[in-house]
Amino acid sequence: MKKILVTGGAGFIGSNFVRRALKLKEDWKIVVADALTYAGNLENLEGLKEQYNDRYNFVKIDIKDKDGVDELFKKENFDGVIHFAAESHVDRSISGPLAFVETNVLGSVNLLESARKHFKNKESRFLHISTDEVYGALGEQGFFTEETKIDPSSPYSASKASSDLFVLAYHKTYGLNVVITRCCNNYGPYQFPEKLIPFMIKRALDKEPLPVYGDGRNVRDWIFVDDHNDGTLLAFEKGKSGEVYNLGARCEKRNIELVKLLIEKLKIYLKDKKDFKEPEIAFVKDRPGHDFRYAIDPSKAERELGFKSKVSFEEGIDYTVRWYIENEKWWRRIISGEYLEYVKKQYGGR
Ligand code: NAD
Ligand code: TYD
Repeated sequence: MKKILVTGGAGFIGSNFVRRALKLKEDWKIVVADALTYAGNLENLEGLKEQYNDRYNFVKIDIKDKDGVDELFKKENFDGVIHFAAESHVDRSISGPLAFVETNVLGSVNLLESARKHFKNKESRFLHISTDEVYGALGEQGFFTEETKIDPSSPYSASKASSDLFVLAYHKTYGLNVVITRCCNNYGPYQFPEKLIPFMIKRALDKEPLPVYGDGRNVRDWIFVDDHNDGTLLAFEKGKSGEVYNLGARCEKRNIELVKLLIEKLKIYLKDKKDFKEPEIAFVKDRPGHDFRYAIDPSKAERELGFKSKVSFEEGIDYTVRWYIENEKWWRRIISGEYLEYVKKQYGGR
């Protein structure tokens, strides 16, 4: 059995990863470590303990807690770490950057320090989940490759770029076995309804206008969360130490095009709901430093890891919209007073 630490496993991508890895990797024992911030939620992991017994464990821990992290590593002797835990929302990083430095930079370095000291052996691997946002913005043309210069725009992407550099420094300086993946925008079940897709679905169901930043021509490159997680597993098992792999599904959409598509899907699925009203789009003040376009070139991961995204956008979006309609109770439960305050502050004056 291999003992793998998954940080941030109660969040969106992490919880989907844990579910998938427990199913696919029968020789893995997974310890999820998560601070359960506003974005982390134990309901996302419901049923796993009953189904997998001692192949799955949850520890509530904040990666900012250096001593707590070190104790955990000392006790568990991990064969590997898959590091998802992060403050992940760009808009929140604009209103409060420090939390991003503390978790994404200092928290990541705490993990690297403990991995360096307590990893079981040289084969033990630290996989750092990063983002295409570290490359900054593209114009209408071109793609991000692993050679693209790091040029982050937001406090979020600056904190992720910084943690990427620490991960690479631990490889160069201490010989730590590391791999970094940089993925594009994910969508799918269990995404916290502050990010574009679930936020727009929630607003539509609540009969509120859909706030599109600026003119809506910004482009994001989308991947279904399971495809990202399959790429993560491949990078963990087949990636070369010290390397970066871009993960993406070659699926660019302008924000406005995506929001209109969501409205069309909602009209189809909610046509029999008595009080459903077609949502209105509201163009609102742009995000400061808003990156114009992201587009990942995943050729290196395809060539070297055998990565290939499988879920088409049409299929994935259909599934996701239906999931949010069918799981309204889930997202209503996880949005607390803090969320309502956040939405008021973020969208109130726009
Ligand atoms: P999320 O916000 O849904 O989940 C983050 C998780 O980390 C939560 O469970 C939260 O409780 C936990 N966490 C936060 N601070 C912590 C701390 N100090 N200690 C321990 N746990 C803490 O984020 P997500 O969208 O699932 O993203 C996961 C990772 O993937 C992040 O590293 C993010 O940068 C990266 N990423 C996300 C996307 C995307 O589209 N969502 C794309 C590329 C990369
Ligand atoms: P988001 O989901 O925050 O992801 P990221 O900024 O990390 O790419 O936003 C995706 C895109 O949608 C981004 O260009 C900003 C835009 N957006 C809106 O237009 N309105 C909104 O209310 C939100 C949350 C995002």
